[in-house]
Amino acid sequence: MIKIGRVDVSLELRKLFLNGQPMRLGTRAFDILEVLIEASGQLVTKEDLFSAVWPDTIVEESNLQVHISALRKLLGPDKDLIKTIPGRGYCLIRGRQSEQATSPLWSEANPPESGLAPNPFPLCCAPLIGRQQALEDVRGAIDVSPLVTLVGTGGIGKTQLALEAARSIASRFAEVRYVDLSAIEHPDSILSTIYDGLAHPPEGGASLRARRQLVVLDNCEHVIHEAASLCERLIQSNPDIKIVATSREPLRASFERIYRVLLLEVPRQAADHEEVLRCSAVQMFISRARAREPDFLADGESLDLIGVICRRLDGLPLALELAAARVTTLGIGELVTQLDNRFFVLTGGLRTAPARQRSLKATLDWSYQLLCSRERIVLRRISVFHERFRLGEACRIAARDGLTEDDVIEAIAGLASKSLLTVGACGSAMSYALLENVRAYALQMLDEASGSDMTVNRHGPGAGAGGRSMAGAQTDTTVPDDQQMSLAIPDG
Ligand SMILES: Nc1ncnc2c1ncn2[C@@H]1O[C@H](COP(=O)(O)OP(=O)(O)OP(=O)(O)O)[C@@H](O)[C@H]1O
Ligand SMILES: [Mg+2]
Repeated sequence: MIKIGRVDVSLELRKLFLNGQPMRLGTRAFDILEVLIEASGQLVTKEDLFSAVWPDTIVEESNLQVHISALRKLLGPDKDLIKTIPGRGYCLIRGRQSEQATSPLWSEANPPESGLAPNPFPLCCAPLIGRQQALEDVRGAIDVSPLVTLVGTGGIGKTQLALEAARSIASRFAEVRYVDLSAIEHPDSILSTIYDGLAHPPEGGASLRARRQLVVLDNCEHVIHEAASLCERLIQSNPDIKIVATSREPLRASFERIYRVLLLEVPRQAADHEEVLRCSAVQMFISRARAREPDFLADGESLDLIGVICRRLDGLPLALELAAARVTTLGIGELVTQLDNRFFVLTGGLRTAPARQRSLKATLDWSYQLLCSRERIVLRRISVFHERFRLGEACRIAARDGLTEDDVIEAIAGLASKSLLTVGACGSAMSYALLENVRAYALQMLDEASGSDMTVNRHGPGAGAGGRSMAGAQTDTTVPDDQQMSLAIPDG
């Protein structure tokens, strides 16, 4: 991004931005600006401008003046940066180059001493647990595709995996950059944010082309359309670029290769202690608990309870981290009991974590806010399933009160794409399930939703009073398909 006064100019996108907002400028005026920029402060004669901008047409000088006026108007208080050299032409006095909004990890100008430069590129505080295979898979995907999107539910470890993968291959690139999109409030400013981080002023004709760049584009889900189109443009303008994006749903951009980040492995209910200890979720929980309390004991009965915690928290790293932070004050037994109250207990994340990761509820709020209203209603209605369910069953529960079966089918597809439902094969059909964390959240939303009591069919026992208790909702409970009951629930 090139800065002219307060205005940012992207030559690649042929756009101007003021405070991140795109500005309107005609094609000819932009062409003129481009020629002035390329002259790096030198005089550009009127003849030069005519032949660059109108190569095949003879135009009046007044035309040129109109476009120069338009440019000056856009520059506002900095309009004098375009100087008229009477009788000859114009020159552009460039302001200083824009500050970079993103963090370089490594660049030719600033080579790392031991693989990492001492700069604000997010550093991994603790080694990743259980991601060895995932790392290899992501690196393999980067080898064959210019855009790899790490997709998964909130707190599953997309960012950490993307950063670790980027670090491990950083030395192959001329430049590695990290762009965090989570703070962007207005989708339009994504362009300037990213280009602030990527652009090198094309001094002396140099450009972004053919630079071996690796870009980590983090948290794309809330500006998904813009992120997708920008990735396409970046790839088209630089065949040597590699982008690792993270998002709670796929970008659906050309060139994209999706890598679904998996939950950490949790122990089976009947697992012996050796098996429990081999599971990555258990290892992560213990390592986080010991970081707080070095004497934390993980043996005998407490190991069984850790297994229960990992299962009931779906092996979700963020949830495990929050739970481990509580174990030193609550004790492992009480922590298990409190899992029915998980949104109250699983708070108190790192002070330095983004707000959406400081509690389990906050991370689910972030996803929920990104749903359309139809998806929200369907999510609330299907929260009554504590087992896998099929599309037909979802339709029977959710297609009512203004929602057709088609609406429900589309919403289920949307929820699965946004990592709020897990999808599995069930014979020739697909089946769906809510992670326990998501289900607990959706049940809470159902409780909070206004509306009249409705009678719906519900599959599976364990409903208790209205099926809202999470007790007994372990994901490994099996339930005969034919057990159905009716119950009254408030309308989602
Ligand atoms: N494999 C792992 N081993 C140890 N800790 C992990 C692992 N994966 C994630 N974590 C921890 O879990 C938390 C959430 O991880 P991360 O921020 O990468 O999730 P995310 O999927 O990017 O979440 P979001 O969708 O909110 O951006 C972090 O504190 C991170 O350190
Ligand atoms: Mg993230």
